[in-house]
Amino acid sequence: MLTQEQNDRLTQVGPGTPMGELMRRYWHPIAGSSQLDAENPTKAVRLLGEDLVLYRDASGTLGLLEPSCPHRKASLLYGIPEPNGIRCCYHGWIMNETGRCVDQPSEPEGSRFKDKVRIKAYPVQELGGLIFAYMGPEPAPLLPRYDILVWPGTRNATSVALPCNWLQCHENSLDPVHFQWLHRYWGGWVMNRKRPPEERDEFNRATAARGAEHRRIGFELTDYGIIKRRLVGEETEDDEYWRIGHPILFPNILRVVNTLQFRVPVDDTHTIHLVYQHQHAEPGQTAQETVPFEERSVYDDDGRFRADYVLGQDQTAWAIQGPVTDRTTERLGVSDVGIIMYRRLLEEQLQIVEDGGEPMNVHRDPAKNECIVFPVEHYVYPGETETGGPFKDSRPREPDVVAELSGEGARLPAWKA
Ligand code: FES
Ligand SMILES: [Fe+2]
Repeated sequence: MLTQEQNDRLTQVGPGTPMGELMRRYWHPIAGSSQLDAENPTKAVRLLGEDLVLYRDASGTLGLLEPSCPHRKASLLYGIPEPNGIRCCYHGWIMNETGRCVDQPSEPEGSRFKDKVRIKAYPVQELGGLIFAYMGPEPAPLLPRYDILVWPGTRNATSVALPCNWLQCHENSLDPVHFQWLHRYWGGWVMNRKRPPEERDEFNRATAARGAEHRRIGFELTDYGIIKRRLVGEETEDDEYWRIGHPILFPNILRVVNTLQFRVPVDDTHTIHLVYQHQHAEPGQTAQETVPFEERSVYDDDGRFRADYVLGQDQTAWAIQGPVTDRTTERLGVSDVGIIMYRRLLEEQLQIVEDGGEPMNVHRDPAKNECIVFPVEHYVYPGETETGGPFKDSRPREPDVVAELSGEGARLPAWKA
């Protein structure tokens, strides 16, 4: 259980809030590169409690600006792309990607008025077919070049707008046990009801293999986040699910199988779940020209949350906790040690920012940012035929938190007991 004050501190992401300030130290994906072109040059974006307009000008430069034109406040969402910025539809002023006004066609010739006009602008960068924004203090850190964003191959991305706070989405990644219930049991039940009775089976086939009972879960702190490990069913410590595990990147990204899953905080009660998928390049394959980007609804035709696919089941579980989970009345058990550890890590990093420091997983060394490769269990790395790649012989150190779900109880992290 948290106090209301603790819950607010972890969930409120607007300007000036502690979590908002922490989140502003990171780049966040806000759109697909393919969504902004000559036909569709502008897009409304809401990120960390701020409404913004993203645009691509006629020379291809991207900008992210406060939405209202500084003249008489028409929305730049209706602007026209010009080679040097976005021209307001109302009286033709042009704003560029640095937030400067570079043209005021109806002001007297020689007027320097435009040099005095500025609006809020945030840096944006493209990588792997996504557009990322940074809203924190300058100098901006490097946009992290996470493995599947930069490896050769083909990619696609989907985004789903969720009516709930970012933390309940992301805490799911520290909660391995939900797999056997949400996906296998409930998911199986949901999927079965969509089939004729004679075609129904006991469990959800898609998730049956990973839906066995969890015997042990373990979490290890790394410099980029937390590695999650689990032993289910008859698996032993030699299995990659325990030896290698997969990472939860601080503060809000899951890296699993061939995906990155970004839980992008829109505001206190809305989150974009952006799922980015990668397939390795086949020999002789030409480079992918554009990365498809699809915005999907979280609802089905009946207005209920869609639960007929694994991520839909996750998204349902996040949203049905309500706009902001009431953590003042929740009751966490031994199987929730990962969540407790992650909240402590968040609190520790909030404190670092409040004390004027730089939080974890912020990248500033170009040499270390060429391609950041993560350990992911049962995953075939580029150029390999077997799973494990650079991590195939890895043996985990003693996890910072372990829960023996078969009876011995949990141990809380030594770094903050
Ligand atoms: S309101 Fe934008 S140019 Fe006048
Ligand atoms: Fe899940």
